[in-house]
Amino acid sequence: MEISKTAEWKALQEHWKDMQDVHMRELFASDKHRFNNFSMQAGGLMLDYSKNRITVETMQLLYELAEKANLKEWIERMFAGERINNSENRAAMHVALRNYCGDPMWVDGEDVSHEVTDVLAKMGLFVRQVRSGKWTGASGERIKSIVNIGIGGSHLGPMMVTEGLRHYHSANLKVQFVSNVDILHLRETLKQLDPANTLFIISSKTFTTHETMTNAAWAREWILQAFDGDEKSIARHFVAVSTNEKEVKKFGINPKNMFVFWDWVGGRYSLWSSIGLSIALAIGMERFYELLDGAQAMDDHFRRAKFSENMPVILGLLGIWYGNFAGAETQAMLPYNWYLRFLPQYLQQVDMESNGKSASRDGKRIKYHTSPVVWGGSGADGQHAFFQLLHQGNKLIPADFIAAVSGGGVEHEHHVTLLATFMAQTEALMCGLTAEEAKAEMQQEGLSEERIDELLPHKIFPGNRPTNAILMDELSPRRLGALLALYEHKVFVQGVIWNVNSFDQWGVELGKKLATKIRYELDQKAPAEHDSSTLGQMQYFFGLDKK
Ligand code: F6P
Repeated sequence: MEISKTAEWKALQEHWKDMQDVHMRELFASDKHRFNNFSMQAGGLMLDYSKNRITVETMQLLYELAEKANLKEWIERMFAGERINNSENRAAMHVALRNYCGDPMWVDGEDVSHEVTDVLAKMGLFVRQVRSGKWTGASGERIKSIVNIGIGGSHLGPMMVTEGLRHYHSANLKVQFVSNVDILHLRETLKQLDPANTLFIISSKTFTTHETMTNAAWAREWILQAFDGDEKSIARHFVAVSTNEKEVKKFGINPKNMFVFWDWVGGRYSLWSSIGLSIALAIGMERFYELLDGAQAMDDHFRRAKFSENMPVILGLLGIWYGNFAGAETQAMLPYNWYLRFLPQYLQQVDMESNGKSASRDGKRIKYHTSPVVWGGSGADGQHAFFQLLHQGNKLIPADFIAAVSGGGVEHEHHVTLLATFMAQTEALMCGLTAEEAKAEMQQEGLSEERIDELLPHKIFPGNRPTNAILMDELSPRRLGALLALYEHKVFVQGVIWNVNSFDQWGVELGKKLATKIRYELDQKAPAEHDSSTLGQMQYFFGLDKK
């Protein structure tokens, strides 16, 4: 039965009617232990979800919804390597990538753990060679710069984690990322680099992605030009990460310089595979293993903890509560850590490419809301930009605040200020400021009664704005691994409840196909049949194009 027709769903609809006018201030006032009752720890992360518009009953009803959707069975099916990505007929087994200790992990009845450890060992060897200076460029120079060329999952995860773990970078190696087919991205990056000591990682699961292959071809020319067209230089300056050996060979990269992964790893879930090579080069292989460890700790927790003590389940259900019952359409992600500023972009792909769907697993039209619009940015900067809307706008926007208690040895004063703003914001969003409080403040400031009346409507903060706070001791590889696995599993939980396949992405295909067609027409200056808008844009291009 469709989930929105179940008694469990209807009970939550009714419950929202009771909850919609309840203020969190009242909930905190009536329960001195609210923080204890609605917070938990797992994988080294602390989740405080007490500043949500929930009661014990709300959570109970949500757990019942999860039971109804057979969430427990789905979690087992994922860990058992079943082909839960039904439209692509594949398993979704990114959890096997974090299990590098050799415990069997089954995909289609085959233990894949050895393949995983073999690739990790090959990565480790390569990382040591490059970082120690043993791997040199074609002229014998030590490699100083790495450029990862990839897009989507072959870019966002590695880029975000590499930046997130900047504290752990080797001083001798600069790791950079190019994704955009706008040549300015690659040109600007290469401007500062010397081909003699630059190594490219061409990261693409399919090795056919237009943007990546266009950039890779350009980078290849750049190296060839620097080495007088000597094809042998390619082997010293290019490695590939892919599932497609045939295309890698065709491109001219020796399969010896190729790091494989498997079709049971989705692009946006691939940073744990050899797609994470750029991360490992930046932080070293030992740290990369720690990243995997952190994710595995969250995997174990997700697989074993009961729903009421399960962090990804709780986070997922809270999203369902707001998105399907309270009318929220977006979800803000607010890292209070400069190194984590790309986290919202990465989570956009994880969430929206996974669950931005309106066909159910069994091909039926879905009438309820699925993935929220995920957005956000560095919290500390956002406070002086878009937070106005969070505080006083008329939309319900749940927000996740993420921070580390330790600044990793940076100036303590600075870091405490950062954390104070973090805590103040979640408090302000929850409490708001009543008319009486706002009035009292203005009276204290000595404003005239007339001015107070004039300003009062603008000074009221309704509060009751839901936030989750995720805190950790420090932003280490382990904690980051746990954090990312937390969100991966949260998205899976929601996909199960919405009955969508979180592991395919058919929605990106149409644009790709049309781009190939239009590219040809632009070249030929011969537009085929299009709507008048697209034709108008093409004609405008023909009028101005210099070639
Ligand atoms: O266009 C979307 C997508 O297919 C993503 O799912 C994927 O992460 C990205 O493109 C890159 O694909 P590839 O790694 O095959 O180049």
